This record gives sequence, structure tokens and C-alpha cells, in this order.
Amino acid sequence: MVKKNNNHAVDPHSLWNESTRIVQGSQHADPIHGGMNAPLHLSTSFKWNTVNDDGGYDYSRTANPTRSILEEQLAQLENGQYCSTHGSGMSAVTAVAHLFKQGEHVIISKDCYGGVFRLFNDVIRYFGVEVSFVDLKNLDQVRDVLQPNTKCIWAESPTNPLLRLVDIKALSIIANESDAFLVLDNTFCSPILQKPLDLGAHIVVHSLSKYINGHCDVLGGAVITNDKDVANRIHFLTNAMGIGSPAFDSWLILRGIKTLNIRYRHQEKTAMFVAKTLAKHPLISRVIYPGLKSHPDHDLAKRQQNGFGSVICIELSGGLDAAKILAEGTKLCTLAVSLGGVSTLIEVPAFHSHASMTKAARVEAGISNGLIRLSIGLEEPEDIVNDLVQGLELIRNITDKQKIMCSVNNYDYSI
Ligand SMILES: Cc1ncc(COP(=O)(O)O)c(C=O)c1O
Repeated sequence: MVKKNNNHAVDPHSLWNESTRIVQGSQHADPIHGGMNAPLHLSTSFKWNTVNDDGGYDYSRTANPTRSILEEQLAQLENGQYCSTHGSGMSAVTAVAHLFKQGEHVIISKDCYGGVFRLFNDVIRYFGVEVSFVDLKNLDQVRDVLQPNTKCIWAESPTNPLLRLVDIKALSIIANESDAFLVLDNTFCSPILQKPLDLGAHIVVHSLSKYINGHCDVLGGAVITNDKDVANRIHFLTNAMGIGSPAFDSWLILRGIKTLNIRYRHQEKTAMFVAKTLAKHPLISRVIYPGLKSHPDHDLAKRQQNGFGSVICIELSGGLDAAKILAEGTKLCTLAVSLGGVSTLIEVPAFHSHASMTKAARVEAGISNGLIRLSIGLEEPEDIVNDLVQGLELIRNITDKQKIMCSVNNYDYSI
């Protein structure tokens, strides 16, 4: 856990635009040799100056200089004072989840990422923490489930996979009234679109494996806060549980961050093109993308975010079988989980990212078997659309024999 470095009389970073800071962030982190990139410290142990002076670093599970550079840059990006980085998004979530004790209560969005659902439902609950999954868009419902022992409201905005937004300011007011933390998972927006601490959240969580690293080649997570007590406890837990980010992973993420702004903005522009084009396709019953006027949270997205992101969900009129044909039939869009990388990915949440939720919880959250999630990458927009359209044609062109089989299964492929 590193505190943002405020030692400079005038921090030169504060004079730059964010897009410049993102590129330059770790560039001056090697004062000894002036290396263009942050130094990679692979030592597990560091020499003590005297028996009671470790010179700042002792053992890499506790802290590592390369990890510290990443933590400082992320704190700055999120306008936070403290940041700790972890071996995956789930280990960041695990660190925060361990702030709560037996007998305490946490409220979580019912359509959160499946791994977060699994951790709280199947692990944290068994340590005696009470967990309620609710629709955080319904503020009355949130107030109804609040209890004197409620310590946390845990939100994603937009949610994975349905891209529903929550009103962060409104939730932070409820959290403050109840002396609870508002934790905001900012993975989908990244700090480019949204800075939850500025909107009232107390703790920000990230899966760095997504946009922030951006190349699908490293796992990472982060916790950012302005609360010193939270920061100290997270630092303690990180060391105690051994869940800090490894040095090489931190270094790779520092390299990925440099192109975050440009990647994110380009992917977002392509996503808007793809969403608008798919919205006209007769086999698609619904395109879910906050940038479309048809999205129920379009106005909130315009107010609360600085853009719309590059994840799109689509629902096919042919249901599960149609989703399977499309997901297996694309050539450019790779059938794989994760999101926010440079390559376009396609997946079926019920079978992939949200398979760890119970079927009942998926139904409750509104995740149908026929829902497809796309993470738009950096390929040419026309190539992505053409690939999806040829995949959709496979559904249209299924043979009469398949149609008969589908009708036996009660699926309706009539177009
Ligand atoms: C919103 C969200 N939070 C947390 C995670 C977990 O991150 P990781 O896969 O890096 O452990 C994910 C993973 O997909 C996610 O989508």
C-alpha cells in the first residue's frame, strides 16, 4: 500500500493533462540511471541498513519498489491518497472483503461479476458475514435492507454483464448516513471514464487484468482509498494473506497503462459503431450499450461518466441455441472470457463469466442464457461488424434439419 508521493514543492504531474500523466506516469521512476521505464525489482529480500532500519523495503510480499510505482500511479489516476495492488482483481476484492467481521452485514449488487458473487456467497458468508444481494438501482430497496450492522454497500457501475449503472452519489449518501463504506468496482469504466472517489465512494476496486493492463497477458487488481485506517488494514491484510501483486506483473501493468487512454477511447468509438450497426439487425432483439439512447441509463451515463466504454451485450431472438451458433461461428471475435484487451472477445455470460452464479441468481439478475457479451478491441470497426454479421448469417442459414430439431426443443428461429 503506497501513499501518493506529495514530496515535490510543485508536483509537475499536477500541471499536465491526464492523458499526458498516463504516458509519463512511471517514466521518471529511475532517478539513478534515468531509464525510460520503471525499474523491475525481482528481489524477494532487501538488505537492512541496520537491525532496525530496513531502508523502506524488507520483503516483496510486504512491499516491492516496482509495485510501489504502480500503486502511486493508480492512486494518482483515481484521485486517491492510498493504493495497494494485488495478484488479480479477485485478490483485491478478497482484501476488501476481509475488512468485515463475523456478525457484520454487507449489501451487494445482485448483478455483479460472477466471481464477486461466488466469493461473497460461498466463502465470505461462511465466515459469518451476512450478505444481501439487492438491486442497487432501487434506493428504497437498499434502505429497506440496511441494518445497524451494515458495514458496506458494494457496487459495480456499469455492472458486468448487463451494463446497468447505479447513482454513485445517491448511494454514497445512504452509505454515509449508515456509517458504511461504499465500495465501487470501477473495472468497466477505468479511471478514464469515472473517478468514484470524487463521486463519494470510499473505496475503489479494480481488476487491472482488463482495460488498465489491456493486453490479456497479466492478472492484477487494485484497491484505492482516501481513508488512512482502511489503507493500513488493507496493507496488513495484503502482507498477512500474501496477495500483493508480483513485481513482474506490476511492471507489465505499468507498461500497459501508458496506452490506456488511447486504447480506451479508440475501443469506445468502435463500440459505438458496432452497437449502432447491430441495433438494426433483425436477429437481434436487444443491444445493451450505455451509449445508445435506448439504454435505460443513457442519461445517467452522460451525467456520471465521461464516455460509454467498449463492452456491448446483445440478446438474440433465437435464445440460447442462436447465441451458441454466433459465439462459435465468429472468426475475428475470439470466444474467450475477460474484457478490456486489444482483441475483440465474445462470450456467453451464463456459460462463462457468470457460470459461478447459481441459476436462480442469474435469473434474478436478468442474465438470460441467450445473452452475449462482446468486448470490443482495436481491430478495424468494419471487420468486427462483418465478422459478427457473418456469424449471425449462420443462425439464419441453419439447415431445415436443425430447424426441426430446434422446433422439437421449442426454440423459435422464425425471422
Ligand atoms: C467487474 C469485475 N470485477 C472483478 C473481476 C475479477 O478480476 P480478475 O479476473 O482480475 O480476478 C472481474 C473479472 O472479470 C470483473 O469483471
